[in-house]
Amino acid sequence: MMKKSYCLGIESTADDFSVGISNFDGKILANVISAYIPEKGGIHPREAARHHAEVADKVLEEAFKKAKIKLKEISIIAFSQGPGLGPCLRTGATVARALAAYLNVPLVGVNHCVAHIEIGKLTTGAADPLTLYVSGGNTIVSAFDSGRYRVFGETLDIALGNCLDVFAREAGLSQRAGLPFGAMVEKIAGKGKKLIPLPYTVKGMDVSLSGLLTATVNLLKQSTYSLEDLCYSLQETAFSMVTEITERALTHTEKKEVLLTGGVAANKRLQSMIKYIAEEHDANFCVAPTQFSIDNGAMIAWTGILAYRHGVTTPVEKSFVRLKWRLEEVAIPWIK
Ligand code: ATP
Ligand code: FE2
Repeated sequence: MMKKSYCLGIESTADDFSVGISNFDGKILANVISAYIPEKGGIHPREAARHHAEVADKVLEEAFKKAKIKLKEISIIAFSQGPGLGPCLRTGATVARALAAYLNVPLVGVNHCVAHIEIGKLTTGAADPLTLYVSGGNTIVSAFDSGRYRVFGETLDIALGNCLDVFAREAGLSQRAGLPFGAMVEKIAGKGKKLIPLPYTVKGMDVSLSGLLTATVNLLKQSTYSLEDLCYSLQETAFSMVTEITERALTHTEKKEVLLTGGVAANKRLQSMIKYIAEEHDANFCVAPTQFSIDNGAMIAWTGILAYRHGVTTPVEKSFVRLKWRLEEVAIPWIK
């Protein structure tokens, strides 16, 4: 048993900069997240990257304070190598390389999507789930098969969280209330009653959400329906689509667990839909706790440990960021 071995994980793929610290047994000692909230509009990659560079030292300091360990006790530095926004990824990678060089410890580049699945498993106890990972940038139905996390279904255009966020911005909602846009839509949808017919696009195992978004925004501008009914109908339609492809993948893979993760996993209505289909197929429903389903450093730290234990390290000359690094490209040697 190795003593005092900790991995520090850095997450910076999009609008969050986060540092997590995990020990080799998967005990999470710290998970500090600093979110960049733009004044208005969507995320500007360079501004988000500037935020990350500005907060990096504070977030690191807080993580060490929370973990009650010293810098010298870190034996691995893991970082989110992709997929994500170039400037944001580069900022995190730069911090990671500097720390690894300073401490003279190995660097491990982690795939962000793999990390979402692994921390979901760690924190819920799921062993071999079918995963629905839904966030601002991703909408993926995945399960492990023959050495990799296979993608069974995904979005053909925009991600589920992005669809909710754009609609919320079009409706004039402001994130300064402290709630994520998706959570605001959820709250307003709770008061909706009328199900407005909206485009429902499932193509094979994939979904398309951009037509749904355009149609809902157009109705919003016509002011025919209340915002409550629009939010309700948008949620019902979009969530039914991702639930349908999740159920189809569940039938195909016959997995006995369904894991819901990513920022949108916090949504109670989506949780109830996925739980329903899981139970219909005698599968256990698991949802990752919010601090581990949004972008977080702990998931990078933990996945860094899994990889390192199986001989995976990333030499500095191969530590360039991978903007389009797909989930199924990553070998997963830690699952037999
Ligand atoms: P990724 O890099 O994995 O794509 P991300 O940068 O989008 O992630 P996350 O924190 O995983 O970050 O997800 C944020 C998304 O989750 C946003 O689209 C936000 O609106 C959405 N979200 C948060 N809470 C809720 C909720 N209660 N209901 C629906 N969506 C939610
Ligand atoms: Fe993410």
